[in-house]
Amino acid sequence: MGLSVIILAAGRGKRMHSNLPKVLHKLGGLTLLERVVTRARELHPSEIFVVYGHGGEQVPDELSHLNVRWVEQKETLGTGHAVMQALPHIKDGQRVLILYGDVPLISTATLQALIKSTPSKGAGLVVVNLEDPSGYGHIVRNKRGNITSIIEHRDATDLQKQIKEINTGIMYASNELFKSWLERIDNDNAQKEFYLTDAIELAVSEGVHIESVLASYPEEVLGVNNRCQLANLERFYQHQEAKQLLLSGVSLLDPDRFDLRGELQAAEDVTIDINVIIEGKVIIGKNSTIGPNTILRNVEIGENVEIKANTIIEDAKIGNDCVVGPFARIRPGSHLQEKARVGNFVELKNTHIAKASKINHLSYVGDTDVGENVNIGAGTITCNYDGANKFRTTIEDGAFIGSNTSLVAPVTIGKSATVGAGSTICENVSENGLAVARAQQVYKPNWQRPTKKEE
Ligand code: UD1
Ligand code: CA
Repeated sequence: MGLSVIILAAGRGKRMHSNLPKVLHKLGGLTLLERVVTRARELHPSEIFVVYGHGGEQVPDELSHLNVRWVEQKETLGTGHAVMQALPHIKDGQRVLILYGDVPLISTATLQALIKSTPSKGAGLVVVNLEDPSGYGHIVRNKRGNITSIIEHRDATDLQKQIKEINTGIMYASNELFKSWLERIDNDNAQKEFYLTDAIELAVSEGVHIESVLASYPEEVLGVNNRCQLANLERFYQHQEAKQLLLSGVSLLDPDRFDLRGELQAAEDVTIDINVIIEGKVIIGKNSTIGPNTILRNVEIGENVEIKANTIIEDAKIGNDCVVGPFARIRPGSHLQEKARVGNFVELKNTHIAKASKINHLSYVGDTDVGENVNIGAGTITCNYDGANKFRTTIEDGAFIGSNTSLVAPVTIGKSATVGAGSTICENVSENGLAVARAQQVYKPNWQRPTKKEE
């Protein structure tokens, strides 16, 4: 039987105090809703419906790449009403799983357990035991331990309020059953809402068995209502990811100060110092070390690489045995081949550096092809932009660029050529040549400095 997933995301998230709809807030670099959709996809459903409402078209517009079916709930009249908006679009015979756009860390294992243990003519719920169950729907069971209803905290008696077993909201049954129950629920309760949870009591009264599956740990079913809860779940997520890395042979000098906001593939004996931010897709080869306060965004780093402190690398590739930083900025389109060195206060953009070349200090090298064994002195600037167009610079194998040089592109420095310090180079320098382009030194022996005039 096919599976359809309905993700409820129409609530307004008032307690976030934000212009952004709640499900567009991010956890680990992805919006809450993207995380839930990703988990739902792992179950291979035939369709995923997202019920949206508050914030208008902003959610479907921002997340149009998700390839889900968007169903608008024009008024937020409760979770039961929200599910009703999607049901008419679901074919008969489908099984329906209800998830929440603001419960981002639900595990696939728990959802699979729910699907597996729910009988075909029954319904299943994910439950969890909470030390402080206030605010949730409490699970009411009879003497035999069978679930008989869910009672919302606001509607519960004092005794019921003490029940620590609570409803996570995640529910599973056939769409026919959901339809038959939800057509009959009312909004006669403290919030004047159509509660999805009222379906349970109805089902029980008709002899339907309600199965429950215990969440593996509370965090997977915790929702985000305010920014404190979001920050707590963010740290929980980071700890989970950090633990996996540690157990796979990656050293994180302090897992509390590690931030993965994308995907990291790190080999054994990689060491990551504190306050490193990983974004997009990052690959790090074995024995490489990443210094503190470093940002890596869509980077491929080879083996035995040393990235020193305070370096920012984006959309770039760093070959084996390179040394980069401290305080280097490697911008998109850059590629360092093995043993290259890029030192402090060096900015590269769209630049290719071949084997064993060095740019060790205070330089801007953009739109440039640097050959092998090139030495670029401190304070070298490639003037790649004339105010309208960008041009490339070529520095061939073995060339030596003296300090404080401007290379006005387009220009080529030939193989093993030398440029004297302080030069502004506008014309090509041929192989083995020397170019010096600076004013002659003026020299006056025993020169008297100007002195102050007497008044
Ligand atoms: C709900 C459950 C409660 C459970 C708790 C778990 C009901 C009646 N109660 O309570 O038993 O313990 O979740 O967190 O279901 N939503 C819509 N449209 C609506 C109303 C809500 O899409 O009209 C969405 C919200 O965006 C949210 C989710 O449904 O993602 C839950 O709604 P919320 O109002 O937060 O339910 P709770 O009162 O927390
Ligand atoms: Ca509510």
